[in-house]
Amino acid sequence: MTSSTDFKNLTQGKMIYEGKAKRLYETDDPGRTIIEYKDSFTAFNGEKKAEMSGKGRLNNLISSFIFEFLAKNGVTMHFLGRLDDLRQAAVRVKIFPLEVVLRNITTGSLCKRLGVEEGMKLPRPLIEFYYKDDALGDPIVTEDHALLFGWADEDEISLIKNVTLRVNQLLKDLLAPLGVVLVDFKLEFGKDASGRLLLADEISPDTCRFWDSSTGDKLDKDRFRKDLGNVLGAYEEIWRRLSGGNK
Ligand code: TMP
Ligand code: ASP
Repeated sequence: MTSSTDFKNLTQGKMIYEGKAKRLYETDDPGRTIIEYKDSFTAFNGEKKAEMSGKGRLNNLISSFIFEFLAKNGVTMHFLGRLDDLRQAAVRVKIFPLEVVLRNITTGSLCKRLGVEEGMKLPRPLIEFYYKDDALGDPIVTEDHALLFGWADEDEISLIKNVTLRVNQLLKDLLAPLGVVLVDFKLEFGKDASGRLLLADEISPDTCRFWDSSTGDKLDKDRFRKDLGNVLGAYEEIWRRLSGGNK
C-alpha cells in the first residue's frame, strides 16, 4: 500500500470506466485510482455533446484547486492530488447512487419543476437528492427513497448532508472575495474499502453554477447548456480568479 504522499508514483493500469467527462483507471495499488479529465461537454443526459480542446485541463485544475482547499479545511475526500494537466490520483471508492444538489438561489431544474421564480435567494440552503440512473434520467428522490431502497443509511445521509452544508459555506467564503456567487452545485460521495465516507467525483464549472457578482454573467456549464457562447472563456475566468497570484 502506498502512503498518502507518494500518490505520484502510482502506475496507471487499464481503464475501469469511461463516463461523460472523465475516465477512471486502475493502478498498481488496488486502493487507488487515476482519474483523467476529458475535453467533452455533455448536457441533458448526454443528448447534447461537444468536444472543446482545453476543457479537461481547466476542470482538472479547478477541481484540484477546490479539493485542496477543502482538504485544508478538514473535508475528507477521495482526492489525493493532481498528477499533471489532465489527471488526478484518488482513493478508490464505491459511489453512492445519489447526486446531492445544494441550492442557494433558485434556477435550473428547480424552477422548471416547481414553477418558482428564477434568481430568488433562498432563506437557507436547499438540499435535494437525485437517483443516479442514466436510463431513468437521474430522477429527484427523497431521503426516504434512499433509506428504503438501501442506497444509503441514516448515518450516511446525515453525514452527507453535513458535509454538503460545510462545502457550501467554505466555497461561498472562497468565491465571494473573487466576485463569484455560488448559486448551486452537485456533489457525489463514495465509500472506500474500509467503509469511510468520502467526498468524490469533481467540483468544477460542470457541476456548479457560478454567477459573476457584479454583472450576473454565467461562468459555468450553463453557457454550453443554453448556447450562450464563450464557454471555455468562462472556465478560464474561474481558473484565473481562483489561481490569482499563484498561477
Ligand atoms: P439542475 O438545476 O439542472 O438540477 O442542476 C443543479 C446543479 O447540479 C447545477 O449546479 C448543475 C449540477 N448538475 C450536475 O453536476 N450534473 C447533472 O447531471 C445535473 C443535471 C446538474
Ligand atoms: N451531466 C448531465 C449530462 O452530461 C447533465 C447536465 O449537466 O446538464 O448530460
